[in-house]
Amino acid sequence: MAFELDKVVPWGRSLAEYIQLFNLTNSDLDKKIISFGDGPASFNSEMYALNKTIISLDPLYQFTKNSIEDRISETKVAVMEQMKANQDNYIWTTIKNTEELEQIRMQAMSTFIKDFEVGKRQRRYINHELPNPTNYMDLEFELGLSSHFLILYSQLGLDFHLKAISEMLRISKEIRIFPILDLNGGVPDILYEIIKHFNNDFCIRIDTCEYEFQKNGNRMLVILHK
Ligand SMILES: C[S@@+](CC[C@H](N)C(=O)[O-])C[C@H]1O[C@@H](n2cnc3c(N)ncnc32)[C@H](O)[C@@H]1O
Repeated sequence: MAFELDKVVPWGRSLAEYIQLFNLTNSDLDKKIISFGDGPASFNSEMYALNKTIISLDPLYQFTKNSIEDRISETKVAVMEQMKANQDNYIWTTIKNTEELEQIRMQAMSTFIKDFEVGKRQRRYINHELPNPTNYMDLEFELGLSSHFLILYSQLGLDFHLKAISEMLRISKEIRIFPILDLNGGVPDILYEIIKHFNNDFCIRIDTCEYEFQKNGNRMLVILHK
């Protein structure tokens, strides 16, 4: 099925948030990084401004800047209403309230929007839909990331996840997936199935991270080549 913009709820995080949610050290930031399902996050733009090597993949990047921007405006109100209705599922210490959340997210997405066309020309934003194969070489990247996409959308199913993660591991020496909760805030069964599937051939860890916004959502799955 084609990836349709009117079904997407664009929502993006900042470099500061990515650093906390993936435990990114200074030496991690110097690695050659590929980030899957990056959407309208400002991670790529902010990394590029720091002269770091980063490529973001997302099917969202097939659309024009104007249509992505319109879609962000269209969905913002509904997303914020949902956040307000479900406030108890989140921890309001770093981000103090829904107004601050909206301001942080809109700032990240506006940084992305300003950078999108230049970044697309520089091939930092690539239209790609998991679990399709990419054109990159085996182990071309030192680190592959997935923030708030894989595992969170556990309804995509085990087969989707195994294919997507296999492709991520084909081109990345190490991958990190955050969070390991689904949209209902529970640990989905597919997490255990994923671990079971890759456990023999890879090193697998679950690490605790500094970032916890979704309650109990402070852990990431790390898979490394042996
Ligand atoms: C909740 S957003 C997370 C954006 C960003 N990673 C962040 O944490 O701020 C989920 C993203 O997954 C993307 N997505 C949806 N289906 C995808 C697929 N099959 N392959 C790759 N990305 C996909 C969406 O376009 C969207 O940008």
